[in-house]
Amino acid sequence: MSSVVGYIGKNYSWDFVVDALARLEYRGYDAAGFACLDVANKHLLYAKAVGPLQNLIDKVADKIIDGHVGIGHTRWATHGASTEVNAHPQFDEHKRLAVVHNGIIENHHSLRAQLKREGHEFISQTDTEVLAHYLEFALGTTQNEKISDLIVSVVERLQGAYAFIALLQERPDLLIAVRKGSSLCIGIGEDEFFVASDPIAFAGRTEKMIFMPDESFALILPDEVFLYDFEGNRLMFSVESVDVAWEEKGHDFESDMLKEIYEQKQALNATASFYKQLHQRDGLWRSLNYDRNKVKQLKHINLFACGTSWHAARIGKFFFELIAQTHADVSLASELRYMPFFPQENSLYVALSQSGETADTLEALRMINGMKLPTAVITNVAASIMVREAQGFLLLKAGPERSVCSTKAFTSEIGLLYLLAHFIALEKGLIDQAQLDKAYRNLFIAAQALESTLERYRNDLMLSLAPKYAKYEKFLFIGRHIMYPLALESALKLKEISYLFAQCSPAGELKHGALAMIDENVPVIIYSHLDPLIYKKLVANAQEIKARNGHLIIFGFNGQEELKEMADCFFAVPQVDPLLGPLAMSGLMQSFVYYIAKELGRPVDRPRNVAKTITVE
Ligand code: G6P
Repeated sequence: MSSVVGYIGKNYSWDFVVDALARLEYRGYDAAGFACLDVANKHLLYAKAVGPLQNLIDKVADKIIDGHVGIGHTRWATHGASTEVNAHPQFDEHKRLAVVHNGIIENHHSLRAQLKREGHEFISQTDTEVLAHYLEFALGTTQNEKISDLIVSVVERLQGAYAFIALLQERPDLLIAVRKGSSLCIGIGEDEFFVASDPIAFAGRTEKMIFMPDESFALILPDEVFLYDFEGNRLMFSVESVDVAWEEKGHDFESDMLKEIYEQKQALNATASFYKQLHQRDGLWRSLNYDRNKVKQLKHINLFACGTSWHAARIGKFFFELIAQTHADVSLASELRYMPFFPQENSLYVALSQSGETADTLEALRMINGMKLPTAVITNVAASIMVREAQGFLLLKAGPERSVCSTKAFTSEIGLLYLLAHFIALEKGLIDQAQLDKAYRNLFIAAQALESTLERYRNDLMLSLAPKYAKYEKFLFIGRHIMYPLALESALKLKEISYLFAQCSPAGELKHGALAMIDENVPVIIYSHLDPLIYKKLVANAQEIKARNGHLIIFGFNGQEELKEMADCFFAVPQVDPLLGPLAMSGLMQSFVYYIAKELGRPVDRPRNVAKTITVE
């Protein structure tokens, strides 16, 4: 997803901007750009390139484009195709100012029409160019000398959620940073300031930063920052010290995704031991900001999320209902805001988001915060916007996840939800300490099972199964009960990284339609269950598929002989707590789709058209 960065200060800006954009690459993008004011003449210089950041670096290599004030961008196309013209920075007509922008200016159509009537001509299809022209228009029309008043008049007209950074040729001593909805922070160096949509950009340069409040803007001079609200009032700000962990790239794995698949056991163990200690130290409810006494009365958990996190939440629902006897609802954050909402008493509203930045989840969180209901976020990113805005938070201990497609954050979410259900059950008197201790052990055993299958099937997957299954064009995934969300996640993973068509159905619903798809060309992937009754029903579903000449790939558990006999391909996973079946099978499922995508030559870490952190709704 798009990232914005900026620099002003004693040094040249290019190095920081390119470093920062490289760190934010994992969020996903399809073009990159840079603009600065050159030192000698204070002229606006720029370069843009479609494709990887390296294309931009190569383009700039032979001609020096640099200056003490600069901005950069990686763009994930929303308005207009991924072309150089549409890439950021965008400019006013006379190239006197440059803007990089995240998010969407929702009323760009009407602004564009107004500006066209004033004689403006546009060359790109972006809402950002409209913003640049509107800034120019405001600059040209204002009678007021104060730049802060000018920004106030501009933000009054803008609708949507956005973060942008602008530089002006006439003001080489100034960087303008504006945020509404999307995040933006300012890093404080020695006689220099950095700006970025994600504090990871500052790693190694500064730990001192200002998180700009929502609906605020900053005027940043080489030696001073002035912060304002959208009415133009000066705001006091606090400088926070944040240790943003950044692990330099470079590992023995062929891709980030494979590395992250292999890190899952470690991530789960780190999550379990951290939360064991936090719980022992009474820190858990404090971190969740939920009164411990209220937990006994807790009637509903409302989880909301997008994508892979939504699948983890759907698995979590089973934990809360079966372990903590607490009703759980799961909503897609992108739908939640547009549905009737019935606030519930004795509820906790929990956002699940690997990045802590996903726009749909964030907006749902804000909506619920606005109703004064208790909220919390479960996320992998401590410095994320959701951690700052939710009333409570629990951090995953997965370590940075760089591959666009989420693996270890997904299983860490499952692990943490499993523990949280046990913590609630303990408070409610439904389990005792010994059962909680068993839960820690169960998690450890499931993490172990996950890892053991990776090694066991690696060669088969690489050498024979992936070459075989990469030849198919369509796949159908099925599961029941807690394994159904895992089937959904698998179908999503396959689509996302291999671009093959994947459909998912609850196994019991096959007979209501999806069975019509079955023939020898559509492999059906079944995720088995350890509950004897559910298992029996799955065996029946497998028979229905076989009877129609279907091809069966079964992820089963050791000892599930009926399924094994019917399968064209059978993966055996060690038996674990039945509720941790999805966790134990996740690693193997991810490897299965991974090696198919590799076989097809797909760029697994950066699949086309999708991004890691989706900051638009
Ligand atoms: C994007 C990513 C997915 C992720 C989803 C939600 O679509 O590509 O991997 O599951 O966003 O992200 P979140 O950070 O909120 O978990």
